[in-house]
Amino acid sequence: MKLTLRVWRQKDAATPGAMATYEVDGISADMSFLEMLDTLNEELALAGEEPVAFDHDCREGICGACSLVINGDAHGPERTTTCQLHMRSFSDGDTIDIEPWRASAFPVIKDLVVDRSSFDRIIQAGGYISAPTGTAPDAHATPVPKPDADFAFEHAECIGCGACVAACPNGSAMLFTSAKVNHLNVLPQGAPERETRVLDMVARMDEEGFGGCTLAGECATACPKGIPLPSIAAMNKEWLRAARKVRR
Ligand code: FES
Repeated sequence: MKLTLRVWRQKDAATPGAMATYEVDGISADMSFLEMLDTLNEELALAGEEPVAFDHDCREGICGACSLVINGDAHGPERTTTCQLHMRSFSDGDTIDIEPWRASAFPVIKDLVVDRSSFDRIIQAGGYISAPTGTAPDAHATPVPKPDADFAFEHAECIGCGACVAACPNGSAMLFTSAKVNHLNVLPQGAPERETRVLDMVARMDEEGFGGCTLAGECATACPKGIPLPSIAAMNKEWLRAARKVRR
C-alpha cells in the first residue's frame, strides 16, 4: 500500500504548527496505524529528519495513551483506539490527515502529543475511595446488586484517552468525568465521598477550561470503550442530589 500522509508538525507549545506531507510505501494491510507511523519515523530517521512525536504505550487498547485525529475523526474511522486501528481500514493511494487532539484544555506539547494532565487533576479531585484496603475481603462481604455492579463496570471501562473531548464541538469532558463519577458513586465502597466526589470533580473540570455539554453526542460516538451518552445524565442527577445535600 502506498499512502500520502499529511501530518501535524509542531516544534513545541510556543511555536505555531503546520501540516507536513510525507509519502510511505510498502504498508501492509495487517499493520496497525501506529506501526505505519513507526515505518514513517524509521524513514525520517534514516534521512536525518526529526521523527514525528506521538503518544503510545500498551498498544493493546487498554492504557488510553494513543490519541490521534485521523481524517477528522478521533481515533480514525473505526470505533476503537488508534493502536487497534489497522491499515486494512484504508486503501492504496489514500491521503490520510493526522492531527493531535484539538481542545484548549489539551495543549499541544509537540507534533501529535498533547498534555492531558487536566484529566489527572479531575481524577485527583475525587476519583478515589477512602475505604481501607488490606487483605482481600471475603466474597460477598459487601453485597452489590447485579445491576449496580454492571453499571459500575460499564463506566469503569473508560481508559481516559480523551477522544470524547477531541470529538466534542465544545471540547467538553462531561463523558469522561461522568464515567469516573458514576463507577464509584454507584458502589457502597464509594458512598462516603458520594457528594463531594461529584461536586469537586465537576468543579475541577470547569476550572480546567473544558467546554459545556450541549448533548451533541459526538463523545459517545467516538468513545472506543462505548461509554454511553446517558452517563452524563446520570452524573447531572448525582450533582443535583449532592448540591441539595451539601451546602458550600
Ligand atoms: S497505546 Fe494503549 S490504548 Fe492505545
